[in-house]
Amino acid sequence: MTGQPGLRSLARSRDLMTATARVVAGGVGSADRALVAPHPIFIARGAGPRMWDVDGNEYVDYLLGYGPLVLGHAHPRLVEALTQQARLGTIYGAGHPLELAAAERLTALVPSMEQVRFGQSGTEAVESAVRLARAATGRSLILKFEGHYHGWSDQIAVSYAPGAEQAGPAERPATVPMSQGQPARTYQDVVVLGWNDLAAVQRLFAERGGRIAAVLTEPIACNYGVIEPAGGFLPGLRALCDRHGALLIFDEVQTGVRISLGGAQAVLGVTPDITCMGKAVSGGVPASVIGGRRDLMELIADRRVFQSGTYNTNPLCLAAIPVVLDRLAEPGTHAEMERLSRRLRAGIAQLIGPLGGYVQGTSTMFGIGFGPGPLRTMRDGWQNSTEKIMELKRALWSTGVYTKPTPRDIWYVSTEHTEADIDETLERAAEAVRLVRF
Ligand SMILES: Cc1ncc(COP(=O)(O)O)c(C=O)c1O
Repeated sequence: MTGQPGLRSLARSRDLMTATARVVAGGVGSADRALVAPHPIFIARGAGPRMWDVDGNEYVDYLLGYGPLVLGHAHPRLVEALTQQARLGTIYGAGHPLELAAAERLTALVPSMEQVRFGQSGTEAVESAVRLARAATGRSLILKFEGHYHGWSDQIAVSYAPGAEQAGPAERPATVPMSQGQPARTYQDVVVLGWNDLAAVQRLFAERGGRIAAVLTEPIACNYGVIEPAGGFLPGLRALCDRHGALLIFDEVQTGVRISLGGAQAVLGVTPDITCMGKAVSGGVPASVIGGRRDLMELIADRRVFQSGTYNTNPLCLAAIPVVLDRLAEPGTHAEMERLSRRLRAGIAQLIGPLGGYVQGTSTMFGIGFGPGPLRTMRDGWQNSTEKIMELKRALWSTGVYTKPTPRDIWYVSTEHTEADIDETLERAAEAVRLVRF
């Protein structure tokens, strides 16, 4: 194995954490980062598929900034484009040619996107999509699925990870807020059902179809492992929406450009009315996209639906989009990422299988779990051992494999991971497996 000494010092990260926590709430910039143990690590730099912490420890990175870094860290073409643009200005508060260039590319690639608008985060894109759907239909109810994450807004951040004691019966799940401070009235028009349960969606439409503005779903569930839709589920949603005059919104913040240049919808063959993208579309600088049918986007065009933002279409972020699309469009790029992802998945499965673990995923994303797996719904995951996966994660971090610090697991592979990285990762993972005590 190249490089990782047995016991790694995290002294500088520990000191930084102590100092940072005095002035930054919790010492971290986003909730889940606090879960890295024995304490959050602080990163000095990243290059390609690797990053180095402030103590000099090196990690093969499979978190990739929670998904955006589809070209790895500091990709030379991205650095070049961003540097050039920074010299020309980072925000104009007016139109510029990069907007047209990015929009033309995306509308040509993503089946549902006849027109787009840009924002910064996935949360914002989903907020815009929900507002647009309600305006277009004159209805208020939104159906979302248990375990799906669509950002942290008051109205949609519900039933992300409810426990059995809160979640209510499977046929009629409760709408459970993620956070204190979310008034019940903000999500009273959000109905929650189990994913992959078409019969339950059919019952809901039979009862309240005339009131449903939209069905909001990740086309591949990426927030409690990586779970593909059951055969017929997405076409079933499409047909129900059509029959009842509701809109279908795909949240492709995780899957957009990663599953294919046209997103999951291009591969799965179901076209939503509205699509949200974020993360990988801009390769690590903050951009998100909402797009859809021209007649719907018309409501935004003529300002009946307000969509706005100081940083919208800022040229620094839009300069990144064509770089990502160009790199991913090179022949064989997705196929090679998927091949490496399959090799890694198979290797990890072999290592954790004897410990009662499984690997589940598709394309360039997968998650691991310790329990009966594979999962079909969020509730299946209740049987998984959170202790075991977190113990393995601690061991992986200590051997230099960086992955998401929550039991709801996801690993991402980038264009920059190589066969040698996968080999080395599997060696480090084998060492991690030797370290766990279960
Ligand atoms: C499917 C999905 N939608 C929306 C979001 C929110 O995106 P952001 O964190 O950029 O607001 C996420 C974030 O992980 C996500 O996974």
